[in-house]
Amino acid sequence: MCDCITIRAATGDHRFTFNSSIRTKGMWFFNFCKSSIGRKFFMALSGLLLLAFLAVHAFGNAAIYAGSKYFQFYADFLHNFPVLVLLASVGLGSVLVLHIVLGLSLFLEKRQRTGRYEVYARLTENTFASRTMGYTGLFILLFLIIHVTTFVFAPGSDTPISVVVMERFSSFFFSLFYLVSFIALGVHLNHGFFSMMQTFGFNHPRYDKTISVLTVAVPVAFLVIFGGIPLYFMSGAGASFMHH
Ligand code: HEM
Repeated sequence: MCDCITIRAATGDHRFTFNSSIRTKGMWFFNFCKSSIGRKFFMALSGLLLLAFLAVHAFGNAAIYAGSKYFQFYADFLHNFPVLVLLASVGLGSVLVLHIVLGLSLFLEKRQRTGRYEVYARLTENTFASRTMGYTGLFILLFLIIHVTTFVFAPGSDTPISVVVMERFSSFFFSLFYLVSFIALGVHLNHGFFSMMQTFGFNHPRYDKTISVLTVAVPVAFLVIFGGIPLYFMSGAGASFMHH
């Protein structure tokens, strides 16, 4: 008698075989993590956590529009909790590493598969955003390395972060690089959000309309809040930043 069951993912193209003859405790979990549906699940879960960080970060950075006093107050407030900030940073870093490793493995696997089976490729979701997930992801990684070096590691502890923000964004090319990065982030989130919803099984006719609206609205909201900051400084409006 066959003691294998196959769980089909919402996408219909990922299988996870559970072999009940393997009695060893925890073995099913190991198999799940190795399967493509398992990796997609952890990809979606880590993506959701990163999205939550982005939402909090966008909300905090929006204080820039109110002026340096408010932004500095927000940054100082965060630094009143150094242990919490350290724990959050380590947690965030680990989630990010998991997301990158799983993402690259799925991206390379998909590229190999689509190269070999052209017909199969046409059956799967095939948009510009979905095809370029690996490239936009790597670009965001490059942005993150530059971003964290600039704002977390490089400034001396005696330079207020609002001054660092003002100085960096007064460089046209720095601001332009940020704008391009936020466009890459928007494209990445467009497919990422859609894919996450599919993996979590929300692709039901009742939610399809809401999901298609959110796959555009979520990236656009981040693009407007984050992208508005370099534009604010590039346009000259940021000249009043230090006076408020
Ligand atoms: C114009 C938009 C942005 C501004 C002005 C900005 C500003 C900052 C600043 C000032 C810090 C240092 C906070 C501190 O230690 O006091 C920071 C940290 C950070 N930012 Fe941003 N950020 C922006 C966009 C982004 C985006 C789009 C991402 C992710 C894709 C991101 C990811 C991070 C990360 C991971 C950290 C380090 C957090 C930690 O210390 O654990 N930022 N950002």
